[in-house]
Amino acid sequence: SDLCANGQVAGKRVFIRADLNVPQDKEGHITEDTRIRASVPCIQMALAAGAAVMVTSHLGRPTEGEFKPEDSLAPVAQRLGELLGREVPVIANWVDGVEVQPGQLVMLENCRVNVGEKKNKEELARKLAALCDIFVHDAFGTAHRAEGTTYGIAQYAPIACAGPLLAAEIDAINKALANPKRPLVAIVAGSKVSTKLSILQALAKNVDNLIVGGGIANTFMLAAGLKIGKSLAEPSLVGEATAVIEAMKARGADVPIPTDVVTAKTFAADAVATVKAATDVADDDLILDIGPQTAAKLAEQLKAAGTIVWNGPVGVFEFAAFENGTKVIAQAIAESSAFSIAGGGDTLAAIAKYGIEKDIGYISTGGGAFLEVLEGKTLPAFEILQRRAQPVAVAAS
Ligand code: 3PG
Repeated sequence: SDLCANGQVAGKRVFIRADLNVPQDKEGHITEDTRIRASVPCIQMALAAGAAVMVTSHLGRPTEGEFKPEDSLAPVAQRLGELLGREVPVIANWVDGVEVQPGQLVMLENCRVNVGEKKNKEELARKLAALCDIFVHDAFGTAHRAEGTTYGIAQYAPIACAGPLLAAEIDAINKALANPKRPLVAIVAGSKVSTKLSILQALAKNVDNLIVGGGIANTFMLAAGLKIGKSLAEPSLVGEATAVIEAMKARGADVPIPTDVVTAKTFAADAVATVKAATDVADDDLILDIGPQTAAKLAEQLKAAGTIVWNGPVGVFEFAAFENGTKVIAQAIAESSAFSIAGGGDTLAAIAKYGIEKDIGYISTGGGAFLEVLEGKTLPAFEILQRRAQPVAVAAS
């Protein structure tokens, strides 16, 4: 096993922080289990190496110190047990000590219920660290949070290292953004520029082609002097959009603005879809997708890319009449020989809808964490592991 190369794992108490924060329906049934499946290799590696294994995660955003039945990881443990073919007991009130033998696996109940977790209080962090010989961080989706089980425990555990999922996510991101095969094409789509402005600004310094979609594209159309009727947009951010376009132009890079769009008079699945030139949008139109000519042009660019970063569907792909743009983009990414990385809930839904999972180079399990990486931010929970791995370098600086 290469789990923590600097530690002998057999017989050791291994504490794994996974991100098992999965969506559930009202009855508590798990509706999407990607993150649970992604946690399996690390757990299996630790078990195979003969460790006494504890795994925990947060689930939702519970109130500290007030455990409610809906906060329980029990459904997650059940699903993990099915995947591993073994029982996974769930342990409550575990902060002061955990009984677990080598070869056993236990799940520690929702770590965010522990007092001090969110604010990473030292008292809790030291108790968490005392539970284990080796801390393994495998929760990429929570690596942007400096909490007790993501940061504090990594400070004080005898050994702290990254698990295989966290390592794979970081490798894929580096391959796409730090060391990309060019041209590097990013697709940033979604309803609002405001929620993705720092991503657009960061990517404008790096990518060769910045494809915008959804409400974000509408604001960029305004910046290009086009009329968008009643479409979703943020007119107050036209200045910022213009600055992104200018920054790209100054580097000889491009932000393609749609030349045709699919419009409707109402936002509804059965609304009548009309393809129009981008210069012909009427005052009462809603733009709900990019047009076929734009989609075809973007598909060409994606097929010629060396690297593709995808976050966000370019239209209202949930409605059949307005899915063409997202479908064409998805298929172009699938057909492209580029290394592609995709992340974000809506993007993953589009990937699943068009059945192209196998054609994407890397599908991130991160939501907020993936977006922060695109913004160029460092992930605190990863940074502490790097510091732990290089004590000499840290001491010397
Ligand atoms: C996520 O779902 O993005 C992660 O599990 C982090 O959850 P949080 O935003 O509640 O910290």
